[in-house]
Amino acid sequence: MRKKIVAGNWKMNMDYQEGISLFSEVANMVKDEVIGNQQIIVCSPFIHLHSIASLAKESENVSVGAQNIHQEDAGAYTGEISAKQVRSTGAEYVILGHSERRAYFGESDELLAQKVNIALTHGLIPIFCIGETREERESGDFFDVIKTQLEKGVFHLSASDFSKIILAYEPVWAIGTGLTASPEQAQEVHAFIRKQIEAKYGAAVADETSVLYGGSCNPKNAPDLFSQPDIDGGLIGGASLKSRDFTDIVKVFN
Ligand code: G3P
Repeated sequence: MRKKIVAGNWKMNMDYQEGISLFSEVANMVKDEVIGNQQIIVCSPFIHLHSIASLAKESENVSVGAQNIHQEDAGAYTGEISAKQVRSTGAEYVILGHSERRAYFGESDELLAQKVNIALTHGLIPIFCIGETREERESGDFFDVIKTQLEKGVFHLSASDFSKIILAYEPVWAIGTGLTASPEQAQEVHAFIRKQIEAKYGAAVADETSVLYGGSCNPKNAPDLFSQPDIDGGLIGGASLKSRDFTDIVKVFN
């Protein structure tokens, strides 16, 4: 049975101590809230990774991820951080393909495919983001956009490698806007994504792949979203910065 996952994306927020405090609060609040096949992941800025990964070892329910890696193994890339370095902190996941990285840092599908490869090489599990812009939604092109992002970003993987990754559908027009895709809109796209996976890798892999929803997900709308058959949890931005809100979203699966 595919995992039900609630992943927090802290983005570029909190200094070192604030992040450690938030993680400790969350780990404490969720420790009795996690059901069998559920997983909680906190994706922090790099500065927190080693410390919260050490704290996560004491809480079997929460894992840690990064929000980016460089596509090369090592070298003269001032300011960059490699998959190997991230993995050495104890982090196990990495968000890749986030629309903010695609938009602000020009990350192409081809570059992201390289990042996916090197993440897997070093034992990091990609949380691979796909999603359409407002214009693409309004033009009706969003299925083609998402299909292309899958084909160029992750469909080069073997079935065995693809089975390791997590997907996140994040309609760009819903990220940080307070606008959320309706459960029906989200389910329609999640079902489409699962169909694409089935066509590429077969029904068993499609059935086992966790596909998360991201985009203004909060404790109020999470129940309706997570009750959809092809939505396996959420990738949470703003609401992950508040321990009570994030915990309430985790509890939706209970
Ligand atoms: O990666 C999750 C993020 O993009 C969603 O942000 O603030 O709309 O929950 P937010």
